Amino acid sequence: MDQVDERCGPYSLAEVRSWFPVTRRGAYLFNGNIAPCAEPVRHAIEKALLTWSEYGDAYHGDGKQAAQQARTLFGELIGVQPHTIASIPNTTTGIHLASRAVNPPPGSNVVVHELSEQGSVFPWLQLRERGVEVRVARAVAGDVPYESIQAEVDERTAAISITHVSMGTGCRLDLSRLSALARDHGAALIVDAAQSAGAVPIDLRATPVDFLAAPTFKWLFGQTGGGFLHVSERWLETPPPIPGHSSVVDSHDVNLETINPYADARRFESGMTDALANVAAAAGLAMLKRVGYSQVHARIATHVTRLMDGLSTLDNAGVVLWTPTDPEHRAGIVALDIAHHKDLHQSLTREGFHVGDWQGHIRIDPAFYNSAEEIDSVLAIITAHAREHTG
Ligand SMILES: Cc1ncc(COP(=O)(O)O)c(C=O)c1O
Repeated sequence: MDQVDERCGPYSLAEVRSWFPVTRRGAYLFNGNIAPCAEPVRHAIEKALLTWSEYGDAYHGDGKQAAQQARTLFGELIGVQPHTIASIPNTTTGIHLASRAVNPPPGSNVVVHELSEQGSVFPWLQLRERGVEVRVARAVAGDVPYESIQAEVDERTAAISITHVSMGTGCRLDLSRLSALARDHGAALIVDAAQSAGAVPIDLRATPVDFLAAPTFKWLFGQTGGGFLHVSERWLETPPPIPGHSSVVDSHDVNLETINPYADARRFESGMTDALANVAAAAGLAMLKRVGYSQVHARIATHVTRLMDGLSTLDNAGVVLWTPTDPEHRAGIVALDIAHHKDLHQSLTREGFHVGDWQGHIRIDPAFYNSAEEIDSVLAIITAHAREHTG
């Protein structure tokens, strides 16, 4: 595939790459860490900064409007109504809020898995002192089999809290089976979608979950300090877990006797949110929508398949792939073990390839604006390194 022939939805790849100044410096292939700032996002932030410096508090109103737009776009992306989405500062906060809402009773248990990000687990660990058991489903060769989670769930399970796509190996859990498992046991399903929202299709109409949290700074191309919490209808009457001026209908109400929360998911918000993060979130999501969410997902899948196919020919050269081979069980992250991986990481950096040196693996996270040529080039360098060290 030649770069000039590649398309990104209605755009040529060349045009899309012109939105990403980072592409002028080399191949940015660590998008699941912190995605680079695209021009439409930078312009939106700069406009808000200008308003802030010239008009002061007016930028707060722009931020609130952007937050509303971002919630609507995020809802479209995952197949839910905007009133089920709260603006939050990060994923960890979202899972903590969910844990307060679910409030597992003493004697119950919560099931997490071994390849989780801390934020999927820590909120529940805090509950152990009041008699809640935390059970850890084990991983097998870089994946968390459905059966591993199923084996831990029983009639006392109050919640299943999962990292949907693991940042270590890139494995993706089967949301539809977990959604059914949670429903069958009357447990809440809480999803950390940091590495899945924007990278792979999520349709919560088909696979309902109780809560889903995601940050904006990865596959949604927003900024750090922003995120979303989807709260399913059945939890919308929960008393605000951290009530404050942003969770109530009239933020200027001086009545300190009663809390009058929003009827929607904003009751899960608390104080001031980051206006610039909200502006960036709206701009990042609008950019993805212009390209087409399905085109974005398809391009990531094509790049990942190209990488996986190339790397799988190197097993006799000592390359071990941690990412599952089944496309349904992976997303935008490819993780591999290779001899002298730090040397490889250094030579890739020297050659202008930004990949991850992550938990002892090389991690490559291609996004929609990356080119097939970049994938082939990174493969060529890895191949030469692998052959040299087995040779
Ligand atoms: C799977 C996963 N969950 C969560 C996060 C981030 O959590 P937070 O938004 O709380 O910083 C990351 C990466 O930073 C991640 O890879």
